Amino acid sequence: MADPRPILVTGATGLVGRRLVATLLGDGRAVRALSRDPASARLDTRVELHPWNGRDAPASAVAGSGAVVHLAGEPVFGGLLSAARRRRIRESRIDSTHALVATLGGLAPAERPSTLLCASAVGIYGSRGDLLLDESAEPGAGFLAEVCVDWEAAALRATALGVRSVCLRTGIVLSREGGALPAMALPFRFGLGGRLGDGRQWFPWIHIDDEVALARAALDNAAYTGPLNAVAPKPVTNAALTRALGSILHRPTLLPVPACAVRVALGDLAEELLGSRRVMPRRALEAGFAFRYSDLEDALRAELG
Ligand SMILES: NC(=O)c1ccc[n+]([C@@H]2O[C@H](COP(=O)([O-])OP(=O)(O)OC[C@H]3O[C@@H](n4cnc5c(N)ncnc54)[C@H](OP(=O)(O)O)[C@@H]3O)[C@@H](O)[C@H]2O)c1
Repeated sequence: MADPRPILVTGATGLVGRRLVATLLGDGRAVRALSRDPASARLDTRVELHPWNGRDAPASAVAGSGAVVHLAGEPVFGGLLSAARRRRIRESRIDSTHALVATLGGLAPAERPSTLLCASAVGIYGSRGDLLLDESAEPGAGFLAEVCVDWEAAALRATALGVRSVCLRTGIVLSREGGALPAMALPFRFGLGGRLGDGRQWFPWIHIDDEVALARAALDNAAYTGPLNAVAPKPVTNAALTRALGSILHRPTLLPVPACAVRVALGDLAEELLGSRRVMPRRALEAGFAFRYSDLEDALRAELG
């Protein structure tokens, strides 16, 4: 049975957090949220909003919550990966997770949440060509892979406290409301969309509704523990993604963007777009999770059509 206590969400003002909070409230669940800037958070008035510094979750907000959903983190696709940004990306995820687990450890067991659902990303797999990657695959190489490894290790330390810990290895979330999709669609709207590099790299995606539904399932179903791939069961190549975007937006996709141009434009982040991750949601499927959007075209049509 679901823990009836409030659910505490960090990063509640973000793309995934906002939708998750709205869904939880719609289900009649009590929600607490942490924001670095509560005055600008624009969350539903039913949400019990607490200020924090982005690293140290206040014990008063954690105590008595049934679960914590830790989504907060410096945006990854917000510019070139300077040393300062790399540090912010790491600290906002890994240090805050260590601090959260320390706070959990300081609470009396009766006050301690039973579940920690911590964000992670398919970036943990690095770039692996055509290899099928389920949750048992070894982590790959690269900056984002290293961040995710340390982030998950920090979250899984909660297990020793009797807290069920789930790491949501999320693919690219498709939503008209933000994240990658509006930026990806923009060149297509001007007729300038094209495959990136040779287009053979695999693109792990998930529709926002499925991302939130899987997070909800992981909160309430004790069968979910440890890493959980949050991706649609039919990954596509960049070439197939390009064709689907062109077809749904009724635009040509004749001009491939050479890999070297992507590297010049995006620096280190280019490898994240040119990299290949053929990720499968094995654990979600084994647990009987039913994806609403398995086909990319349906997901894109729902958001862009
Ligand atoms: N969206 C995707 O495609 C995707 C894919 C893979 C993984 N993920 C992961 O899933 C999580 C949620 O994604 P999202 O797209 O909803 O994220 P988002 O829209 O970028 O929102 C994240 C939230 O984190 C807080 N935040 C931002 N910078 C921060 C910092 N330096 N320190 C502490 N908090 C900070 C902000 O909340 P306040 O300003 O209210 O504090 C923000 O609303 C993230 O950790 C992300 O890495 C997302």
